[in-house]
Amino acid sequence: MAIPENIINEIRERADIVEIIDSYIPLKKAGRSFKALCPFHPEKTPSFYVSPQKQIFHCFGCGEGGNVFHFLMKYLNTSFVEAVKQVAEIVGVEIPEKEYRDSGTKKILDLNKLVMEFYRKQLNSEKGKTCREYLKSRGLTPDIVAQFRLGYAVSQWDALVNFLKKKGYDYKFLIEAGLILEGKDSGSYYDLFRDRLIFPIIDNKEKVLGFGARTLGSALPKYINTPETPVYKKGRILFGIHLTLEEIKKQRSAIVVEGYLDMISLYQVGIKNVVASLGTALTPEQVRFLKKYVDEAIIIFDGDQAGQMASLRGLDIVLEEGLRAKAVALPPEYDPDSFVHKKGRDEFLKLVENRQDIFDYKLNTLLNIYGKDSLDARIKVVEEMFLSIDKIPNYLVRSECIKKLADKVGFEEKMVWDQYNLRGRKSSRINMAVPGPAVNKKYAPVEATLINLMITRPQLIEELKELLSPQEFITPELQKLVEKIYTIYPDCERLKVGNLLNFVSEDEANILAEIMSEDIECSPEVLDNLLTDCVIRLKELRIKKYCEFLMQEIKKAQTACDNTKADELLRELNDVVRKSKINI
Ligand code: CTP
Ligand code: MN
Repeated sequence: MAIPENIINEIRERADIVEIIDSYIPLKKAGRSFKALCPFHPEKTPSFYVSPQKQIFHCFGCGEGGNVFHFLMKYLNTSFVEAVKQVAEIVGVEIPEKEYRDSGTKKILDLNKLVMEFYRKQLNSEKGKTCREYLKSRGLTPDIVAQFRLGYAVSQWDALVNFLKKKGYDYKFLIEAGLILEGKDSGSYYDLFRDRLIFPIIDNKEKVLGFGARTLGSALPKYINTPETPVYKKGRILFGIHLTLEEIKKQRSAIVVEGYLDMISLYQVGIKNVVASLGTALTPEQVRFLKKYVDEAIIIFDGDQAGQMASLRGLDIVLEEGLRAKAVALPPEYDPDSFVHKKGRDEFLKLVENRQDIFDYKLNTLLNIYGKDSLDARIKVVEEMFLSIDKIPNYLVRSECIKKLADKVGFEEKMVWDQYNLRGRKSSRINMAVPGPAVNKKYAPVEATLINLMITRPQLIEELKELLSPQEFITPELQKLVEKIYTIYPDCERLKVGNLLNFVSEDEANILAEIMSEDIECSPEVLDNLLTDCVIRLKELRIKKYCEFLMQEIKKAQTACDNTKADELLRELNDVVRKSKINI
């Protein structure tokens, strides 16, 4: 983070979270807090609360929460640094320029804008004629070309180098920005993109992050893209989003295609809730971005079989992130671009209408690939589907999928369950690793109480450090959080919840805000008892969970007639019970 921490804290302390959130969504007073309809999930009665005392917000419905910066990050879909800058402006704190510009980010973004205009000019020049003709042959109208700000890099080796040199840029910086390369003879430099159609990659804030460049002929590679730079990170970008985010938000649905021209062609025929993942399967970052705005993503797959298994695995990311997604397979030999050009918009929309759930899509595709004639093939399909089922966070959804799988592949449901569980047994190591908490509850209440106490009464941390290690917490996010709290202590200023939130991940921020939205009233006399009580209860809970886990494993071993394993587990269970003297 480039902005110094003391400045961030000053900005946060000067800002009033109620005032700032209220300027985006009207807040109503409710006791000591303020409430509103949550902007992060659809709801009819307000469960979004803002606390002026703690300077945090939290939604009891969807679990989003954090400090004023998190609100802006989520609401405006912006980065932490951008959110800090925005609040700084409101409260009138000056951030020293060089502090956040030193990474070169801003300079590269400005440069990219200039370069984009340079390429556009070339497209409209005499030399751009072949490229204009190419665009025409691909069926793109001049209006669309302008909207996407497409350009042309001429075939000369050093057109861009010369242009930028004249503007006073130095070579080292241009290399860092991913625009030029150094030649074999040191001191010679040349353009990365030559004789190519240029697609500027622009984000939803109109920042030009980088470029994709397609050959006009059959030169290889077909596409060259900006390499990784401080502003261009492959896998974080959705091409076309600057033109389509509004429509995506409106429809709460996005069509995801692979290629630049697929995206542009759909847009041109008026399908405007579309983005391109740029040749890769969707990445977690892309999915998380979309998840904020859509209830459903529709992933369009090219008709050819090439790399189909790889793209099927890519679907697991979507399952893992809990985004509701559907899939559409085009007929063989088509991609979205060629399909809309040949068959038109209505035919395309018909395909979209018949979209399949991605789980079904994967299952059907695998059945197509392997068939289900041999036992071997059916087992392959089941094993491959288990990899997807593993990723589904919700138990109920998971069991629905197992049911469906058994049905489709023609095994008894119970057998598929047994096989699924057996597999789990093989891979899970038995070392006090407690399975995560129940699905609908992210953490145990006693964990929350302990963390709430640590933050509201940091003087307790000294003692807690002796009594309880971070690993003794059950929920993984809370283990990390406690580790951070222990490290930050005794810096009580940084432990204030509003400040602490700046040091945690977004997931941790949500949980922390939820935990801190509760007030624990207790007199100093009973505080000590409460603390000891919580520590004991947490330790007991952990052991209990471990015993439950062992008992399940014993059952599984018995079902599988693995007596050695069952005995071993039973001994471990007896041991734990004896040592802990608890009743189970
Ligand atoms: N891609 C890439 N580099 C390559 C090939 C592909 O970055 N060497 C990315 C591009 O974003 C491309 C997408 O993967 O748009 C899909 O690739 P492909 O299907 O090969 O190209 P199309 O988008 O169909 O391009 P065109 O229609 O112009 O052939
Ligand atoms: Mn294509």
